[in-house]
Amino acid sequence: MAYDKNKLRKVAGSFPTGVTVVSIKKLSGDIHGMTASSFLSLSLNPPMILFSVKKENEIIRYIEKGKMMGISILSEDMVDESNHFANLKLMKEPPVFCDEDKVKILKGSIAWYSVVVSKIYDEGDHKIIICGIENLDIKSNKKPLLYYRGYSKIKL
Ligand SMILES: Cc1cc2nc3c(=O)[nH]c(=O)nc-3n(C[C@H](O)[C@H](O)[C@H](O)COP(=O)(O)O)c2cc1C
Repeated sequence: MAYDKNKLRKVAGSFPTGVTVVSIKKLSGDIHGMTASSFLSLSLNPPMILFSVKKENEIIRYIEKGKMMGISILSEDMVDESNHFANLKLMKEPPVFCDEDKVKILKGSIAWYSVVVSKIYDEGDHKIIICGIENLDIKSNKKPLLYYRGYSKIKL
């Protein structure tokens, strides 16, 4: 199909989503985080989620080692954290992670999952990461951060 990349981006971005940060521990012990809006609740029984990652993104090399990951669902006041983990604008003070079960979750998140990779599918310029849910919880009743056509400041 012949297509206009900018139009594809704009149409894809017309579907509003929430914003998550996927976090994973590196061999060094440091935490790597990546902002992801491709997150989707996949299955209730068994409990599963998925998200997709651009093949060139650094996080893919840690995910392919099959580690446990944290998924932080961001609140509406976490635009700075979203930009930080998208490498768009780094925060002066690095965002704070808290321990939840065996994973690291961003402070201020409204809810979280701990997940383990079950399958990885190679599709186009992304990989689809299918994960089983190990644990989950709700942290607050704050409103979620929304992403729409490149903006993360849409108010509910
Ligand atoms: C709101 C928002 C949502 C994003 N969603 C995704 C996503 O679902 N998958 C992805 O691969 N990149 C996504 N990105 C881009 C990555 O966060 C960005 O490329 C990041 O720098 C990759 O990190 P890494 O290379 O350090 O792992 C998103 C960026 C923003 C601002």
